[in-house]
Amino acid sequence: MGETQYPPLVNLDDAELRAERVLPRPTFEFIAAGAGDELTRNRNRDAFRRRCLLPQVLRDVSQVDLAATVLGEEISLPVLVAPMGLQRIVDPEGECEMARGVAAAETIMCVSTVSTRSAAEIAATGVRRWYQLYLLADRAVTADLVAQAREHGYRALVVTVDGPVLARRDRAIRAGFSFGPEIRIPSCGPALGRPEGLDPVEVAGMLDRSATWETVEWLAESGLPVVVKGVLTAADAARACEHGAAAVIVSNHGGRQLDGVPATLDVLAAVVEAVDGRAEVLLDGGIRRGTDVLIALALGAQAVLIGRPAYWGLAVGGAAGVTEVIELLRAEVRQALTLVGCRGWGELTAEHVADAPA
Ligand SMILES: Cc1cc2nc3c(=O)[nH]c(=O)nc-3n(C[C@H](O)[C@H](O)[C@H](O)COP(=O)(O)O)c2cc1C
Repeated sequence: MGETQYPPLVNLDDAELRAERVLPRPTFEFIAAGAGDELTRNRNRDAFRRRCLLPQVLRDVSQVDLAATVLGEEISLPVLVAPMGLQRIVDPEGECEMARGVAAAETIMCVSTVSTRSAAEIAATGVRRWYQLYLLADRAVTADLVAQAREHGYRALVVTVDGPVLARRDRAIRAGFSFGPEIRIPSCGPALGRPEGLDPVEVAGMLDRSATWETVEWLAESGLPVVVKGVLTAADAARACEHGAAAVIVSNHGGRQLDGVPATLDVLAAVVEAVDGRAEVLLDGGIRRGTDVLIALALGAQAVLIGRPAYWGLAVGGAAGVTEVIELLRAEVRQALTLVGCRGWGELTAEHVADAPA
């Protein structure tokens, strides 16, 4: 981990507070924003506050192991970094800097289609990586993205299905956020003969609104495991399994897409039941504390992803900031698992969680 150039953060929310101080207002608002009235964005956090943990005491927790497995790969902590585009808006090295920070924390980075660095450049950092795919109307471009992911050692395709169109995020619009000319999306360039990459607004206009579950089947034929990101109902989770998904991510895009949908934690149990062991279930949205990770795993998630906290870490401290955020979370997870009386994830069950009294 590189040298930290600022006083240490105490928790993940500190990273947001610091980012708010150092980033231009429009950039901060673009990242922080949810869609519409931000009902869903706020629900994600509230859902964790509505649960409580039930420790089992005197369990010999002298050895606690946080290692977990996702899609057959062992990671040191069941926390991945969610796909998030456009990272050059906070760091000149963009996704490559994020990748170095994630690699130092020994977990997996999901690399967004709308990254500002190429799939090859990010791969060259050596980070363990999954490729997030936005389905684009031009099948040839989508197929080329899949080919890039395969060629550059991405171990899974994370297909984001909650964005046939991009939602309006009022806060970002009000703050006047826009992309500077230096923000380009290289990954979509090669298939269109445009090595300079595309403007992000142009890529948003290329989203495939006609995609169906058959598209997921087509992607599953690529040979890479398909992770369907953006599932919120039991019925869709079952469909994902029927159409070849190896995993689903219960996600509402951090409240950035359809406002008014439930908190991810509130639909997790129904999704886990519908999947019934046919695929792995991951969750993102509002994970800010080690205890949040425990609650999600106790209710059946295999692992969780963090979004904004990693972005804030990148904004305030580059790769070292990203690592610091993940290490803070790791320390909290270790403490919480120990205090709840478990030596590892196999001992954590739904019995460790209850609804908090009103
Ligand atoms: C600035 C920003 C950019 C994002 N870009 C993408 C993206 O390119 N693809 C995607 O599937 N999800 C994207 N997301 C959603 C995240 O993957 C994730 O679902 C969400 O941030 C999790 O919620 P959290 O921020 O509360 O942890 C983005 C989120 C943020 C905040």
